[in-house]
Amino acid sequence: MAALRVTVQKLLQARSAVSPLLAVPALSRACHHGHHFEYINVSKAGEKQNVGMIELNRPKALNALCDGLMGEVKTALEDFEADKEVGCIVLTGSGQKAFAAGADIKEMSIRKFQEVFGGNFLSNWSHLADTTKPVIAAVNGYALGGGCEIAMMCDIIYASEKARFGQPEIALGTIPGAGGTQRLTRAVGKSLAMEMVLTGLPITAQEAQQAGLVSKVFPPDQLVSEAIKAAEKIASHSKLVVAMAKEAVNASQEMTLREGVHFEKRLFHASFATNDRKEGMAAFVEKRKAEFTDS
Ligand code: HXC
Repeated sequence: MAALRVTVQKLLQARSAVSPLLAVPALSRACHHGHHFEYINVSKAGEKQNVGMIELNRPKALNALCDGLMGEVKTALEDFEADKEVGCIVLTGSGQKAFAAGADIKEMSIRKFQEVFGGNFLSNWSHLADTTKPVIAAVNGYALGGGCEIAMMCDIIYASEKARFGQPEIALGTIPGAGGTQRLTRAVGKSLAMEMVLTGLPITAQEAQQAGLVSKVFPPDQLVSEAIKAAEKIASHSKLVVAMAKEAVNASQEMTLREGVHFEKRLFHASFATNDRKEGMAAFVEKRKAEFTDS
C-alpha cells in the first residue's frame, strides 16, 4: 500500500512539473498543515513552492460561501500567514462556472435578526481583508454577492473572460453585508456601484476591468497560471517590505491624502532599518541579484 502511494505521488509529481496547478499531489489536497478541509483545496504552487493556493471547492452549490467554507478559508489563511516560505496567496474557485455565487442563501434564509445581530454574523469574513501577506483573487466565473465581496477583500483581482461580478442582494430583499457598498464604490465610483447595488445586475469581466475593479483579464485556461506567475514575482521580494507596501496602499482607502502621504513616508523611512533595503540597493550597485532574508 505504501509502495502504491509512493508511485501515485511520483506520477502526480511528474504531472506537477508540467502544470503549476498540480504542484501538490492531489492526495494531500484535502489535508494541509494537519487540517482536514471539506469545502476547499489547499496547496502550494510555484517553482519555489512559495505561493499558497486556496481553491473554493463546493461546485454543486457554485461555491456558495457557507459558514463551514468561510471557517476553512480562515484556517488556511492563518496557516499560510504562519508559513515562512509563502510570500503570496492565490484565491480561486474550482471549475470554470463560479468563483463564488455568494453567501449561502439556503443557510441564511432561516436566520433571524437576533441571531445575525447577536452572533455578529459574517464577522469572521473580515479575516481575508486583514491578512498581512498579499492575496490575489483569480475570479474564474460568477463572483456574486459575498463572492464579489471576498474578491474585493483581496489585494489584486485577475479575472477570466467568463467572470461576472455583481451584488444581487437587493433581489433577495437585503443589501450587501461584507463591504459591497463600500469597497465596490471605492473601486468603480459611485454611479456604477449604485447601478449594480440597486439593479442587482452583474457586469462582465471586460466591464470590470474598464471600471478598475479588475487589473487583468485572461482566457479561462490561463487565469490561474497567470495569477501564480504574479504571486511568484511578489513572493520573490522581501516579505517584510511587501507587507509595508501593502499596508501603505491599503491606507489610501482609509485616510486623507495628507495623512496617507505622511504614513507612506514613515514606512519608507522605516524600510531603511531593514537588511533587505540595504541588500536591495547594494545588489543594484553591484549589478547582481538581491538575496532577501525578510529581515
Ligand atoms: C446557496 C446556491 C447559491 C447561493 C447557487 N446555489 N447560488 N446555493 N447559495 N448563493 C445553488 C443552487 O441552489 C443550485 O443548487 C446550484 O447552486 C446551481 O445553481 P443554479 O441556480 O441551478 O445555476 P444557474 O441556473 O446556472 O444559475 C447560476 C446563478 C444562480 C445565476 C449564479 O445560481 C444564482 O442567481 N445564484 C444566487 C446568486 C446570489 O443571489 N448571490 C448573492 C447571495 S446573497 P440546487 O441544489 O438547488 O440545484 C449574499 C449576501 C452577502 O451573498 C452578504 C454578505 C456576505
